[in-house]
Amino acid sequence: TTHKITLIPGDGIGPEVSGAVVKIVETAGAATRVKFEWHTHNAGAEAFEKTGEYIPKALYESIEATRVALKGPVTTPVGGGFTSINVTLRQKFELFANFRPVKSLPGLKTKYPDIDLIIVRENMEDLYAGLEHVVVPGVVQALKIITEKGSTRIAQFAFDYARKHGRRKVHSIHKANIMKLSDGLFLRCCRAVAEGFPEILYAEHIVDNACMQLVMNPYQYDILLTENLYGDIISDLCSAFVGGLGLVPGANLGTECAIFEAVHGSAPDIAGKNLANPTALLQSAVLMLHHINEGPTAEKIQTALEQVYREGKTLTKDVGGTSGTKEFADAVIAAMG
Ligand code: NAI
Ligand code: MG
Repeated sequence: TTHKITLIPGDGIGPEVSGAVVKIVETAGAATRVKFEWHTHNAGAEAFEKTGEYIPKALYESIEATRVALKGPVTTPVGGGFTSINVTLRQKFELFANFRPVKSLPGLKTKYPDIDLIIVRENMEDLYAGLEHVVVPGVVQALKIITEKGSTRIAQFAFDYARKHGRRKVHSIHKANIMKLSDGLFLRCCRAVAEGFPEILYAEHIVDNACMQLVMNPYQYDILLTENLYGDIISDLCSAFVGGLGLVPGANLGTECAIFEAVHGSAPDIAGKNLANPTALLQSAVLMLHHINEGPTAEKIQTALEQVYREGKTLTKDVGGTSGTKEFADAVIAAMG
């Protein structure tokens, strides 16, 4: 079989990590008789220079055709500049669920061993709808959008996943004590969905307390069900349990398309220096391979990746090693035998 996949290299460390990941996926594919046809289209500042559009029409068309994309991080300017590419793509393709498994890799020493939790983040609403305006000079209003449809749909996703994969608990994370109407609606939807899943424990934690609880004892959590903003913040926090942003993968899922990308951004501080850890994007590619029903190819990569971590000889700097992006990728390829 040949799979057509849209590849968005991104910028900053994007081209380095996506280059490493494509090489590994190709090798694993060759060993498991799966072929890939990469349709490469970039987005962001580089795309704008070439095409005059931050998200070129060809990229939209490619995702419409392939229905699956692997994406490197794209820089979004702070303050002015253009609207976030990520937010725009998630809106355009209705990628309402952001699925982020945070799982310890074997052999890697971290402050919290054996972490296995999942963040299920609503991906289209909340303050990320980007509805902001100046009311009068010196006063800005930002609109937080929470809908019954969006909240129910993400809660349903979280509980369906929990049932299908034998997870025990779902916590909704909220601030309904302050945002009584918006987060209140989110909670009501979560509770209604939870009723259909009596075998799964359901609990609610206020977001600030949840941050403290996570750091004190992350093992009390299993699936964290969140609105868009809290999920964004909590994802970076949770990445620290397993060694940082270099490790945590993600999937933006809708009913028609899916875009797989790491939790981390373009890391301008280490870009172009062969320092970035491609593990987060590689594990995103593993999620993608499962999504397109290529389990054996996914397993081949995951096993090799875990072997490299267990041996601990060829790790990147962020996780205490001395190797570069390329050397790490070559070690994963070598481990596939
Ligand atoms: P960041 O996630 O890019 O970096 C935060 C810290 O983690 C930095 O110290 C960086 O060096 C480190 N780091 C991140 N990924 C790493 C990796 N693979 N290996 C080793 N170290 C890694 O967050 P930051 O600096 O706040 O954002 C930079 C840019 O990325 C911004 O323009 C932001 O908008 C964008 N961004 C894009 C995302 C996407 O395209 N999905 C997601 C998050 C941020
Ligand atoms: Mg983020």
